[in-house]
Amino acid sequence: MRLVRLSYPLFHLFPLHMNFAAISGSLRTTSYNTGLLRAAAGILDGHTVDIIDWSNVPVFNQDNEALGDPPSVADVRARIAAADALIIATPEYNYSFPGGLKNVLDWMSRSAVKPLNEKPVLVIGASGGNYGTVRAQLALRQVLTHMNAHALHRPELLVTQARTKFSDDGTLTDTATLEVFAKVLAAFVDWTTRMNAPVTTT
Ligand SMILES: Cc1cc2nc3c(=O)[nH]c(=O)nc-3n(C[C@H](O)[C@H](O)[C@H](O)COP(=O)(O)O)c2cc1C
Repeated sequence: MRLVRLSYPLFHLFPLHMNFAAISGSLRTTSYNTGLLRAAAGILDGHTVDIIDWSNVPVFNQDNEALGDPPSVADVRARIAAADALIIATPEYNYSFPGGLKNVLDWMSRSAVKPLNEKPVLVIGASGGNYGTVRAQLALRQVLTHMNAHALHRPELLVTQARTKFSDDGTLTDTATLEVFAKVLAAFVDWTTRMNAPVTTT
């Protein structure tokens, strides 16, 4: 018995409208990483990018799980579940990704609905330094592996020296970065198409 993904070439000829959920690892008002998500919404013309505000998600406490999802958690869970794919833009905090983002992912890993299971995920990030969140992205990919998400490995988007590439309000203005980002997003649309293509047996 062979597993075959159907109709893949047709998706290339007639790209479908996609709904991307998007999470920034930073709650900062003028966050570069939230700026990356707004730039993605501009580049992904014809698709939807739903930037999720998770600022009200409480710290996970297993004692309270039996009470069910708090409304903020249910909201994040439902919006990721409804999406064709997820984009995560993460800063680097102390050589890893922020604890607040990990807390959201911990919530998503519990309950019957696990919205990251088999979800196509794009990991991107911007930092002020010269390494462009490479360590944060690697740490995040490790967590996504356990959650059985389908993270795209390449191409990568590692935005270094962010203050030179964003305006003061957190808008991505650097032309070269925007060009690379467009290529990354095209690859992710392709990845999402392939990962979500119907599977049949022969
Ligand atoms: C708690 C904390 C830890 C940080 N650690 C790192 C780090 O390990 N590596 C790095 O490149 N930048 C680090 N930074 C700087 C962030 O990359 C920078 O603040 C970035 O702009 C945060 O992303 P944002 O603009 O989306 O908020 C750290 C910042 C904070 C607040």
